[in-house]
Amino acid sequence: MTNTFEAIVTGATGINGAAIINRLLNEPKCSKIHCVSRSLKEEYPSKVKHYSIDLITSNPEQIAATFQKEGVTNITYAFHTAYKEESEEGEACKTNGAMLRNFVIGLEKSNNKTLKRVVLTTGLKYYGPQFGEVRLPMEESDRRVPESFSGLPNFYYIQEDILKELSANKPWDYVIAMPSDICGVSQGGYMNQAFTIALYAVICKELDEPFYFPGNEKIYKGLNDISYSGLIADFEVWAAQKPETSNERFNIVNGDSHSWSRTWPKIADYFGLKVPKNQFDNWSSLSNKITLSTPPPIRLYQEEMGIKDIPNTEFINHISFPKWIQQDKVKKAWKQIAEREHLDPNLIDTGTWAFCDFTLGRTYYVSASMIKARQFGYHGYYDTFQGFQETFDTLKRGKVIPS
Ligand SMILES: NC(=O)c1ccc[n+]([C@@H]2O[C@H](COP(=O)([O-])OP(=O)(O)OC[C@H]3O[C@@H](n4cnc5c(N)ncnc54)[C@H](OP(=O)(O)O)[C@@H]3O)[C@@H](O)[C@H]2O)c1
Repeated sequence: MTNTFEAIVTGATGINGAAIINRLLNEPKCSKIHCVSRSLKEEYPSKVKHYSIDLITSNPEQIAATFQKEGVTNITYAFHTAYKEESEEGEACKTNGAMLRNFVIGLEKSNNKTLKRVVLTTGLKYYGPQFGEVRLPMEESDRRVPESFSGLPNFYYIQEDILKELSANKPWDYVIAMPSDICGVSQGGYMNQAFTIALYAVICKELDEPFYFPGNEKIYKGLNDISYSGLIADFEVWAAQKPETSNERFNIVNGDSHSWSRTWPKIADYFGLKVPKNQFDNWSSLSNKITLSTPPPIRLYQEEMGIKDIPNTEFINHISFPKWIQQDKVKKAWKQIAEREHLDPNLIDTGTWAFCDFTLGRTYYVSASMIKARQFGYHGYYDTFQGFQETFDTLKRGKVIPS
């Protein structure tokens, strides 16, 4: 068959990588999918071949030797989603920069003369919402948040610079996709918001307690974009094949103007729970309020916007998850559920409790414009609650949460 292509996906077991593999399995033009991660967590259909490679400790020559030995020499599109979380940003720059560099040079050295494009997944942290309030909606033309402003580096900038440097004067180019907080699961990779919310819900149910939104009223009533993993994958497979997207960076969010005040009651319904009345009156020993020490990136635009003295950003969690899971009754409830339903008793420790505190405790909105992707011809969207529902269904089928 003419016009077919082979693709390679790093981060195969991750939330993004697994979704891209699934999407490529349904792409008629994709004849072979190669994928890389250190561990192997699922059995793949014959169209997928997995290689266990450590992209941090293997140098490009070693990676190239494996690719040549295995016949990974006809790649047209490479999707890089390998990612290592680090507690310190400088370290994240080193490890995540090294993985991308080792992988791309390894691909080049293994004689992949067919390589047309590297697609990199980064995220909306490009705009600095981790430092506080950002200008809305976030647009791709917004400038980087300088280290001299925030006091911290950003590994997304390092990765973008690596792609610019490595692709210069080469027959291949790149595209960068920037999702928001992701909803979805991969086999054995449950570290995301939907999984953590599901754990919170089933424990509330076991305890016969109401389903409080753990963040604050401001974010609850506002708009907050989520990216469904299947939509990100669909966008990336589209962008890989579109000549016009060469060397461009794109936001990719569900596009439904998502508000927790609509989704939370639906999630409550899904798990047979009730959202309590006056749910934000419950300030307690489980509550938490902090003011970030970093300057909010919106300040970079304050002169242009005609606003001044924008304060540092507050985080308010009416129920702070890291405190909530420390309670004996919560631990006991999960133990009971796990024993009764034959589930993993240690799963409670893998919930992204601190991360969810951050995403649900913001007192500002995270909303990204999809106009650029639309102008380039991508019109995909996803209903955010549907994304949560499908993710919860998958968690049930995988016997991660009670069915
Ligand atoms: N998850 C989110 O909510 C979210 C939101 C916005 C943006 N993003 C961005 O999306 C990108 C991809 O993240 P993700 O969430 O998909 O990551 P993830 O789910 O944590 O998966 C990371 C993948 O990288 C692989 N990996 C880690 N260390 C490796 C190594 N040394 N060598 C080879 N492979 C390695 C892991 O497999 P092994 O451990 O088996 O090697 C796994 O397959 C990151 O830039 C992240 O910041 C994520």
